[in-house]
Amino acid sequence: MKICYIYHSETGTTRGVVDRCLAATGGDRTEVQDLQHYSRISKYLVGAGRAAKGLSDPIEPAEIDVSGCDLLVIGSPVWSGKPTPAINAAIRALKGCEGKKSTLFVTCGGSARDALTLMKTALEGRGVNVAASVPFTRKDLRDEGKVKDLIKQIQAAGSG
Ligand SMILES: Cc1cc2nc3c(=O)[nH]c(=O)nc-3n(C[C@H](O)[C@H](O)[C@H](O)COP(=O)(O)O)c2cc1C
Repeated sequence: MKICYIYHSETGTTRGVVDRCLAATGGDRTEVQDLQHYSRISKYLVGAGRAAKGLSDPIEPAEIDVSGCDLLVIGSPVWSGKPTPAINAAIRALKGCEGKKSTLFVTCGGSARDALTLMKTALEGRGVNVAASVPFTRKDLRDEGKVKDLIKQIQAAGSG
């Protein structure tokens, strides 16, 4: 069972969740870099608007081959209540994803709004089955139990 973590993280919160999960489950990581290289201000002035419109940004790597993965774990920060433009691009950049299973999570300040639903719809459009979707608010991240729950969901999806 090979678990592949694919995520975007501008300020380390989403990466921190991946670090904790990876330590428990093992697997590979692909951290997607947004080639717009937003500054602290342009994230809000430009990035948030692009997220609100459901747009994709250019990313590195441009192609993400998951043909050797059994379970995809995809994580995004929430921008404007939606996945980031880098994660929109990452979902489009998946290669060999048809028929794979996935677990999704997002990190946000206070409300994930429709970010997980949009990720699920985009992934299903690529032929990926979504087994579970977990939101983390800033408050949730202080609760070690919530990350443990995500790890359990990943392990369950991986063994099912
Ligand atoms: C441009 C921008 C827009 C954001 N929009 C939202 C939002 O709509 N709702 C929310 O709860 N948090 C929002 N946040 C907070 C982030 O989702 C949160 O800090 C996230 O955990 C950051 O993840 P990262 O550290 O992995 O980049 C926003 C942050 C940024 C930079």
